[in-house]
Amino acid sequence: MVGFGAKDPNDEKAFTEKWMKILANPDLDTRAILLEGMIVGHVVSFVKEEKRQVGYLIDREHWGKGVATRAMELFLKDLSERPLYAGTAWDNLASMRILEKCGFVRVGTARSYGNARGCEIEEILWMLP
Ligand SMILES: CC(C)(COP(=O)(O)OP(=O)(O)OC[C@H]1O[C@@H](n2cnc3c(N)ncnc32)[C@H](O)[C@@H]1OP(=O)(O)O)[C@@H](O)C(=O)NCCC(=O)NCCS
Repeated sequence: MVGFGAKDPNDEKAFTEKWMKILANPDLDTRAILLEGMIVGHVVSFVKEEKRQVGYLIDREHWGKGVATRAMELFLKDLSERPLYAGTAWDNLASMRILEKCGFVRVGTARSYGNARGCEIEEILWMLP
């Protein structure tokens, strides 16, 4: 589903290195999502090209229960900066639906190299005014 994630999501060393950098970066706001006391995913906010972006990822076992939507609603209450931005692969329908439910609107498209897809793909750009 993800267009712009890791080249190889099974590379544990690269994953750990990436997350050590993310957690040490004060410009990033990263929160674990807890469901009944268990970590089931994360939300993140980061600055790309001078725009504050958001992203999210949920453990597949917990998809379809409204977890990402609820987590984003709570996260957005905590983030005071507006506008906020997000980018989705053109075919990531669940992700686009979450953004719509949280009030984001489509503001454009871009052709970007999707690491996780190994080719250039269309990216839909979103903004929360
Ligand atoms: C995208 C992702 C975060 C969704 O998490 P989730 O907790 O299952 O999401 P929610 O249950 O809160 O909401 C999903 C919405 O998408 C809809 N949806 C799911 N699959 C869909 C599909 N194939 N087509 C259309 N809508 C779809 C659901 O019906 C729901 O909308 P609704 O409440 O109006 O019915 C999760 O699948 C994930 O982690 N994917 C991999 C990481 C990823 O893609 N991150 C975003 C990168 S931009």
